[in-house]
Amino acid sequence: MSLALDPAAQDLLFREARTANTFTDEPVTEEQVQAIYDLVKFGPTAFNQSPLRVVLVRSPEARERLVTHMAEGNRPKTAAAPLVAILAADNEFHEELPALLPHFPQAKDMFFSERPAREAAAGLNAALQAAYFIVGVRAAGLAAGPMTGFDFAGIQKEFLDDDHTPLMVVNIGKPGEDAWFPRSPRLSYDEVITTV
Ligand SMILES: Cc1cc2nc3c(=O)[nH]c(=O)nc-3n(C[C@H](O)[C@H](O)[C@H](O)COP(=O)(O)O)c2cc1C
Repeated sequence: MSLALDPAAQDLLFREARTANTFTDEPVTEEQVQAIYDLVKFGPTAFNQSPLRVVLVRSPEARERLVTHMAEGNRPKTAAAPLVAILAADNEFHEELPALLPHFPQAKDMFFSERPAREAAAGLNAALQAAYFIVGVRAAGLAAGPMTGFDFAGIQKEFLDDDHTPLMVVNIGKPGEDAWFPRSPRLSYDEVITTV
């Protein structure tokens, strides 16, 4: 009653959405990924800095290279998922900032002239965008399998560059058979929320 979103959408995005470990063969199309991005790009970031960058690993050759950098337990599902995306933070996001923040273009030099400040901001804000991305995958009627079990230096070297830090690898598709473990408990409201 307290939520504006209709209950079916609540289920699709959260209550019934699960982290998938197996997938059907149904492909994930470019149109679906476009629709997901065009929705989740509106999620907020500090100064609208929008530091998330996404590499879609579509070719079999690239998929093979990716799988070798995944932790053992993550390899079979990364090899089998219809689509795999590498989510990364752009530590040089400030170059786009004047265009993204036209009412305050000075922010680029005032706050982000130093690389450590950019890395901290990019890490936080790209992680936020990664979360929006996962919810966007669910909004498309697909399941996401986010993973941080991989060789970060290896994936950075193989697929990115010194200016882009990998955050997570996400398997995407329709859930297959026995796609998930039983739902684990979540912390209750009282364990998490304090009011002062
Ligand atoms: C950032 C992140 C990293 C994760 N890394 C892995 C991983 O490397 N391997 C894996 O099997 N699951 C991984 N998971 C899956 C989580 O264990 C799973 O999302 C969580 O237990 C909730 O599961 P549920 O959505 O089915 O309730 C990761 C999830 C997130 C969000």
